[in-house]
Amino acid sequence: MKPTAPPRTYRVKSYGCQMNVYDGERMGELLAERGITPAAEGEDADLVILNTCHIREKAQEKVYSDVGRLVFAGKQSGKQPMIAVAGCVAQAEGEEIMRRAPAVSIVVGPQAYHRLPDMLEKAVAGKRATDTDMPAIAKFDALPARRKRGSSAFLSVQEGCDKFCTYCVVPYTRGAEISRPFKGLVAEAERLVEAGAKEITLLGQNVNAWAGEDDKGRGTGLAGLIHALARIDGLERIRYTTSHPNDMEDSLIAAHGEVEKLMPYLHLPVQSGSDRVLKAMNRQHTAESYLKVIAKFRAVRPDIALSGDFIVGFPGETEAEFEDTLSIVDEVRYAACFSFKYSARPGTPAAALDNPIAPEVMAERLQRLQTRLGEQQYAFNQASVGKTCKVLVDRTGRDPGQWLGKSPWLQSVWFEGEHAIGDLVEVTLAEAGPVSLRGLVPAPV
Ligand code: 5AD
Ligand code: SF4
Repeated sequence: MKPTAPPRTYRVKSYGCQMNVYDGERMGELLAERGITPAAEGEDADLVILNTCHIREKAQEKVYSDVGRLVFAGKQSGKQPMIAVAGCVAQAEGEEIMRRAPAVSIVVGPQAYHRLPDMLEKAVAGKRATDTDMPAIAKFDALPARRKRGSSAFLSVQEGCDKFCTYCVVPYTRGAEISRPFKGLVAEAERLVEAGAKEITLLGQNVNAWAGEDDKGRGTGLAGLIHALARIDGLERIRYTTSHPNDMEDSLIAAHGEVEKLMPYLHLPVQSGSDRVLKAMNRQHTAESYLKVIAKFRAVRPDIALSGDFIVGFPGETEAEFEDTLSIVDEVRYAACFSFKYSARPGTPAAALDNPIAPEVMAERLQRLQTRLGEQQYAFNQASVGKTCKVLVDRTGRDPGQWLGKSPWLQSVWFEGEHAIGDLVEVTLAEAGPVSLRGLVPAPV
């Protein structure tokens, strides 16, 4: 690799989960501190960061095709960008990427990106740089203060996973569960609110496993952190994702009845409704214990919107076991959901299991599940018609004078009038579609 001029502009392309979006923003902030600015829309960046996801599909292949595309575009324009691969594929396949993709200058894992500026210096000097260490919490101390503007912000509070579900790469790519300390989180939340955030979504692979000590040195779980954040003036909404059923403490459930700013929405993956499959997945809960957690939430917040994750076609899944998944869906009545075909991930225990499910069976099951989930989402939206609620505006709509935002139940709501991004507008939900609702702003009296 030849020495190059230091990059002046960057672009981050983030795939996968919200955690990656958060990491992408933080990498951008690190670069901005060194005077490297985001490339303008449509302009080629000097530095491109591919912030990758390894959870499903042939993610590695996507990295190589993206790198190939960048090299091709660079040849056409006569200007090769510096390429960095970050995220979970970097963590899992770092050496392989360095070997197979000579155009990549930097490989940086999700726990090491605070050292990106040093790596950049090396790359500018013509040396390739790899860092996939997992020094846990050090990263957050080394990052600059938040600069993010916007009405809704992510705040990463917990990372990693100790659960080792047999299909999942997260425990290998993101490492063991760690919680960021209380004080730094409250400070970061305050800065986000000062910069204009009205809503903060607390992020973690197992966000409800967050544990720490509050400002009085008392041990607390996520509920304690939520209570503290709710005291920040100007912060209107708190959300959190993703939770694990086994880490659900009663104090967090109770917080949904105590903290007005905590939104009535819960994302609680179940993956399957069959106890045999759940056991093979090493989920460490049953369909019944999951339903018990849901019932507790509903007792505290009857209107809570529920969402989940499902995997169809886990090795050996029978038709009857798949129907158990449909049954649990019917029992819960979800407001939103994410469902996936099982994808064997290299290095996970499930990848060594026999009895793979044929692709056409998987596709057919996914279709049936998604139809059922879609009906439920539509039913949830229809049941909301007539309610009056606040919508946090996050985008302009298709036509002039149209605005889009989120209801407390995380539904997309559009309406008309003179508003601005970041406004909390009171609307009456007037009409329901399968994935969004129309709101009416009451005329001023
Ligand atoms: N195959 C399919 N889906 C998966 N998920 C995680 N690993 C896999 C896999 N190997 C899904 C789970 C998880 C969500 C983030 O992605 O449903 O909750
Ligand atoms: Fe993966 Fe299971 Fe951990 Fe979720 S709880 S990140 S599915 S291992």
